[in-house]
Amino acid sequence: MKAGVYQFNPAFGKKDENLKNVLSEVKDADLDLLVLPEFFATGYQFISTDEVAELSERIPDGDTTGCLSQLSHQQGFYIVAGLPERDGDRFFNSAILTGPEGFISVYRKTHLFFEEKLYFTPGDTGFKVWKTGIGRIGIMICFDWFFPESMRILSLMGADIVAHPSNLVLPYCPAVMPVRCLENRVFSVTANRTGEEKRKEGKSLKFIGQSLIASPDGKVLIKAREDEETLITVEIDPHISRNKSLNPLNNIFEDRRIDMYRKLTED
Ligand code: ACM
Repeated sequence: MKAGVYQFNPAFGKKDENLKNVLSEVKDADLDLLVLPEFFATGYQFISTDEVAELSERIPDGDTTGCLSQLSHQQGFYIVAGLPERDGDRFFNSAILTGPEGFISVYRKTHLFFEEKLYFTPGDTGFKVWKTGIGRIGIMICFDWFFPESMRILSLMGADIVAHPSNLVLPYCPAVMPVRCLENRVFSVTANRTGEEKRKEGKSLKFIGQSLIASPDGKVLIKAREDEETLITVEIDPHISRNKSLNPLNNIFEDRRIDMYRKLTED
């Protein structure tokens, strides 16, 4: 199967323009799975709750989910993409999964980063893995990567591929993702954005690009540059992720010593 990422520089608040940009880039792409950045259609740096309320959408009833569900259906590929979600008077940093059958499900970001905490509610869906026609897909969003538990739990739940919509500003993630893949023997597809947002005095955010796809043996299969607007794609075999054996005597899941890890689940 072919996995891909569209890395670009979303214009803040210009949903129609950003969606058009994505549609024109990917509509004829030869793909099975497309991952788009976190908040790909709205931009990232919200500066008020009113703004969050204006740009958030219900899932699955909102326009962005409708548009991506239709694209998935027409083109026959799966999409994972990040967007701000409204649920009553709460807002979540969410990512949807759509497929040839249309809308499939939503994940709400578990670990909120920096000023996301001012406007969004920590995710309540928990981590999820979906069985699809191209393999088992798990989702985490951007800063979730900093917590090794995120990718571990998705892998223990059976994910072959971890889709990772992002708006990375810290420099570390591109070096760490291949290691996360190696320690869990899964594929990752990190979709980051480019550009800079300076919507708040003294709080400029520069996004680091470098979207990448990494393999269960810890290799970077393809990586975008820091500033390029590009669709990167690579052929992968997700079933490789099902083999957790390093050699005939070490299976990285069976060898875990859970009785030694109790501290992990204490407060
Ligand atoms: C991030 O979680 N957007 C850094």
